[in-house]
Order: sequence, then structure tokens, then C-alpha cells
Amino acid sequence: MLGGRTPQQFMAEHWQKRPLFVPDAVPEAAAVIDVETLLDLAQHPEAESRKISQTQQGWQLDQGPFRARQLAGRQAWTVLVQGINHFLPEADALLRRFGFITYARLDDVMASYATPGGGVGPHYDSYDVFLIQARGTRRWEISAQTDRDLVPNQPLKIMADFRAQESFDCRPGDLLYLPPGYAHHGVALDDCITLSVGFRAPSNAELAREFLLWMAERVELPGLYADPNLAATDRPAAMPEAMVASVAATLAGVAWSADDVRRFLAQFLSEPKPHVVFEAPEDELNERDFVRAARASGVALDLQTLMLYDQGRVYCNGEPWLCSPQTVEALCRLADLRYLTADELEAPVAAALYPAYQAGHVHLAAAVD
Ligand code: SIN
Ligand code: CO
Repeated sequence: MLGGRTPQQFMAEHWQKRPLFVPDAVPEAAAVIDVETLLDLAQHPEAESRKISQTQQGWQLDQGPFRARQLAGRQAWTVLVQGINHFLPEADALLRRFGFITYARLDDVMASYATPGGGVGPHYDSYDVFLIQARGTRRWEISAQTDRDLVPNQPLKIMADFRAQESFDCRPGDLLYLPPGYAHHGVALDDCITLSVGFRAPSNAELAREFLLWMAERVELPGLYADPNLAATDRPAAMPEAMVASVAATLAGVAWSADDVRRFLAQFLSEPKPHVVFEAPEDELNERDFVRAARASGVALDLQTLMLYDQGRVYCNGEPWLCSPQTVEALCRLADLRYLTADELEAPVAAALYPAYQAGHVHLAAAVD
């Protein structure tokens, strides 16, 4: 998939550094999604979708879900659906091909459908992205330019002065990797589906805010504010200096360890996006029957489940998974592979999976589709 490079070479030479074009890298991309499925998903209330068109007045951005008639018509437009891997096992399988990059960075697969001439304009993204052609031909022009001026008053970021330096006609199976901030402009030459495997990079401000919220529930500072030396005042509305100094000294005692950072980060990065909902199994089995069934068929993670592990701790969908030393190894394997076969499922492991099965985070393998 990486044009003869090992994952190690790709990470050292291209990741976050320079683009890579690989013709015919992912032949199975064509089978991931067809136009009908994509347009169906754009009408689905649980899928995040957008439609982008260029009108005489400028660019137009509409948010889904759409009605079928909004997706008809032949003018040049693009419909984009985020997170198709939550709906389509084939898209999940494509995402997992990028498992040489930590799941802590992996985001989702977006699919875009463009009619001839359609595209989202010249722009840059803040994330690493693998653009994989699934249908038709898209001409990608790319540029290392540092001039980032945007066209003013547009509902999406369009570069004002895009100057193409390289151009690739991407056909089904072709892959183009772009590092964050690399300018690109894709135009559909015919009916065209492009898949984007995207990576996430939280902003430092978001990390700090989320970490402090996480810490807020754990901070332990015993005692109560006290001021035995408080002096009488004739300006009672003025904040006492001694109080400010005393509270500053108390707050300096709020501390966290590297272990707090570890636990926060794995929990935060395994948190599903806000719109994600898990469904409890229909005809829920009791624990004994679940263990028996799991040991007969194996289990698979729900397509929406995010699972990470770190130093013997396992995190699933934003929660630490309290597991015993007996089960931790199998759960880490489940997190990596996203399934466990019947042979791997010893009874204590299957029993440990029962609450996740009840919550809809894990399914019996036979029921995964
Ligand atoms: C598209 O697929 O049309 C846009 C993807 C991108 O430019 O990131
Ligand atoms: Co882009």
C-alpha cells in the first residue's frame, strides 16, 4: 500500500513531512462504498454530512441530513459523509489497514461524492490525510506554498491564491498522502468518490481544558480556608491581600503526576464523538449463555467502539475497563485486532466481556454485520 515502503520508512520519510502518491495502492477501495449507499448515508440522521457547491454568488455549504431531492440535480457539487466506517464494515477494514499508525491518532473514513467538475475548492486541512480514490477520476493539484490567505466571507476555507506545484489524476485504488497544512485542490473529472482516512490531533488548548476537567474530579486538597489573623477593615468590599496570597499558596498544592496524564489521555482519546450511540443487543443473552455463545463464535468490537490500552490498563469508549490480570492480555489483543476468535476466548475473558456486550460495545462475531 505504501509503494514498496515499509511502515517504518513511511513514518520516517513522509508522515507529517511530505506528500506521497502511490498508484493502485488500495485496489479494494472501489468496493468500500457505492454512490447509492453514500447518498443514503447523507440522508441518515446519525451520519454527519455536508454538501458543498459553487454558485455564482460564491461557495455554498449545507449541513445534512438531506432529503433525496436535495441530492438530485446535475450541477457541480460534492456531498461529504464523515465516519462511514461506523456504518460499513468494508470502510472499517480500510481504516484498519492503517493500523501501523496508533489508534490514538486514527480518526475516521470520510467519503465524498462529486459530480463532474465538483470539488471543495483549494484549501488545506490541519490533519494528516490519506486520500484514496474509490470511483472515477479526481485531479488533485497540490502545493507546498506557505501563503495561506483565504477568500473572505465564504462558509468554508478557500485559499485565495492557490498555486499548484504537482498534479495527480487519481483513479480507483490510487492513494495520495498529505501532511497537515499541505495545500490541495481536487476536481472530479467524472462521477467521483474519494475516501479520506483522517487522523486527529487535538489542539493544545483542548488537551489542557479536557485535562483540567478530568483533574477537577480527582483533585484532593483537604482542609478549609482559615484566617485567624484577619484584621479589621474600614473598606469591607476590598479583597484582602492576605486571602489572595493564602489561596494562591493552597492552589499551588494542586499537582498531577505523569500517571494522571497517562490515564487522562487514554480515557480522552477513547471517548466516542458526541453523536455516537451504542445499541444494547436485541434479545440480550444472560451471562452464562453469552459466555457459551462467545466461546463458540468469537467476538468483535462494535464498528463505533474505540479501545486503547496503556501499561496494563484498558480503556473502552471513554471509560477505564477494570480488568483482572487474568484477562488483560486478551483485552489488549481485542483492542489491537478488534475481534477475538472462539479459540482465544477463555471463560474468564468471555465473562469480562459481558458488560461490554450488554452496552453494545462488543458483539458476538456472528452478529457483527
Ligand atoms: C473531498 O474528498 O472532496 C475533499 C477531501 C479533502 O480535500 O480533504
Ligand atoms: Co482537504
